[in-house]
Amino acid sequence: MGTVAAENDFSLRPVTADDLPAVLAVYRQSEDFLALGTAAASPETVQKDLALSAEAGGIFYGIFDRDGLMRGVLDVIPAGFGGERFHAFIELLMIAQPYRGAGLGARVLAHIEQFLYRDHLARAVLAAVQTNNPAALRFWARQGYNTIGAPELQPDGTTTVMLRKTLDF
Ligand SMILES: CC(C)(COP(=O)(O)OP(=O)(O)OC[C@H]1O[C@@H](n2cnc3c(N)ncnc32)[C@H](O)[C@@H]1OP(=O)(O)O)[C@@H](O)C(=O)NCCC(=O)NCCS
Repeated sequence: MGTVAAENDFSLRPVTADDLPAVLAVYRQSEDFLALGTAAASPETVQKDLALSAEAGGIFYGIFDRDGLMRGVLDVIPAGFGGERFHAFIELLMIAQPYRGAGLGARVLAHIEQFLYRDHLARAVLAAVQTNNPAALRFWARQGYNTIGAPELQPDGTTTVMLRKTLDF
């Protein structure tokens, strides 16, 4: 559950209390995305997301560049999602606005899929995306994720659809 080594131009490391200002900065640079739901880019939202991740057995990573600057966050439940031992779930993948569209999200996703497959024996990765986020829907489709099931209204008023990718390396 420690650091995922970087072979690329980024590294992943679970966030600590010292990283909270940087996490908040990523949230502030993602307000366009947060506005699609109900969350504001506030310290309370960050705390809530970290608490939810810990409760669900998640790993909340910072995505860092070579200079150690946080460019995004990734929250992953590595195993046991939906009661399935070998199913992982991506709770959140959020690249700060200035760094999007350069392939970072795709590289991070490819990297974490390998890690989940090898270190957690995951054989499928699931994710949920809001139906009012067509750019993200395109992104996930291009990374090989298929829609499963019908869109569902969530308690927070957003509508999401479940995505799934079988891991087979
Ligand atoms: C979706 C996201 C993680 C993709 O990461 P990324 O590093 O921008 O993605 P890549 O550069 O690897 O791929 C680019 C593709 O991502 C998608 N994308 C989604 N939002 C985007 C944005 N604001 N800017 C650029 N591309 C975006 C597009 O489909 C784009 O491909 P296209 O424009 O050529 O069709 C990232 O854009 C992001 O964090 N968006 C806001 C948060 C979000 O929507 N997260 C997913 C919710 S489940």
